[in-house]
Amino acid sequence: MSVVGRRFVCRALASSSPFRRAKVVPCSRWTCAVSSIRPLFTGQSWTENKTAKHDPKSAQQFSKDVFKKLGPFWLRDNCQCEKCHHPQTRQREVDTFAIPPDIIIKKVIYAAEGLEVEFSDGHMGFYTYAWLKANGTKKPNSVLRADHTAKPRPYHPFTGTGPYPTVLYDDVMQDDKGLLQWLDKIYIYGFCFVIGVPVTTRDTEKLLERIAFIRPTHYGGFWDFTSDMSFGDSAYTSQGLGAHTDTTYFTDPARLQLFHLLSHTDGEGGASLLVDGFRAAETLQKEKKTHYAQLMRQSQPAHASGNENVCIQPIHEFPVLEIHPQLEQLYRIRWNNYDRAPKTNWGIKDLKQWYNAARHWNEIISREKFQIWTQLEPGTALIFDNWRMLHGRSEFTGKRRMCGGYINNDDFLSQYRLLKFGREHVLNNLGNWHGEGHKEANPNFLI
Ligand SMILES: [Fe+2]
Ligand SMILES: [Zn+2]
Repeated sequence: MSVVGRRFVCRALASSSPFRRAKVVPCSRWTCAVSSIRPLFTGQSWTENKTAKHDPKSAQQFSKDVFKKLGPFWLRDNCQCEKCHHPQTRQREVDTFAIPPDIIIKKVIYAAEGLEVEFSDGHMGFYTYAWLKANGTKKPNSVLRADHTAKPRPYHPFTGTGPYPTVLYDDVMQDDKGLLQWLDKIYIYGFCFVIGVPVTTRDTEKLLERIAFIRPTHYGGFWDFTSDMSFGDSAYTSQGLGAHTDTTYFTDPARLQLFHLLSHTDGEGGASLLVDGFRAAETLQKEKKTHYAQLMRQSQPAHASGNENVCIQPIHEFPVLEIHPQLEQLYRIRWNNYDRAPKTNWGIKDLKQWYNAARHWNEIISREKFQIWTQLEPGTALIFDNWRMLHGRSEFTGKRRMCGGYINNDDFLSQYRLLKFGREHVLNNLGNWHGEGHKEANPNFLI
């Protein structure tokens, strides 16, 4: 199954990864605005075209602030044109890691609607003055502590050999022993297939409710969806999605996610991708400790703004790699380049270091040996740990009907610890992170 996703066509082939959703192209909307092209901006100063100025004083000042503090790469990554940010979902469409790291600005035009910037990759960027104003004046302040030596919490990486972690639907539904077996596999391997699920939404919902109540979100509770854009998110399209974790925009991201493909008619594609984030993080640590530390050190903003009545952001920024403060283990991955918001409270040095680290990380999770490709079928549900496993899918044609839902971390761990250790033992260890004896006997060791 390893290369099913290479069925990607169109925009996806723009770079080495099978999951490039958008190549770097000029926005046709703005190409007419530029006539003579010459390199003007290298990050420190620039000359502007004054023929189409708008509110020149403030526009120039704010633009200067942004350019000086954040530089051309950041500006290109956060381009606000319709090609780079989907006009409905508001998600990032530009492939950050296909942008040349040494990109420069060639020309700046103060148009009436906003600032137009021509980059050395040929792209014509666009920014409203309001956006520039909001992003030009913050001070760097988001540096977290970094621990180069932290390891992931104990886990078993699935390396592609041997059978997939699997349980039977009947076993899970029958008793707590079957349920515990399922939870063990989810926790240890990061994912598990459930075989023999009746192909109905109600039965799939009941399966998920064996663990805990389903977490409602702005997408609803238990989903039953087709690619109809009923919600403003790329998940509701048929396009390929690169490896990501869900709900990076929640203060408390969903812990488990289950998918069950109910039908797929008149088309093909739509293979499912999983990447073990802990394994990728360990590789990053091994290959370059400073990159590993950067992804822990610099926090990032995120958002979900695809529907008119919703604009969700976490209560504060979080890093891609999070260390548990009591156990000092890597316990959570937040990686969603589509939902990453523009980060402005940093300087050019930190910014460059973070993008270098993120580029390295993106390259690791794009390696074939890290990618687990499977083709979902009606009757087989897939569940995974969204705090650890990145997921994605290849583009598809035809009509797919998918159902599924989220489970909260706290409810999952409550159920898992109670079934594994029994209530009395769990209660005797409340708040005990480092107690005596084997760590494996401490329920709080499961995080
Ligand atoms: Fe997703
Ligand atoms: Zn753009």
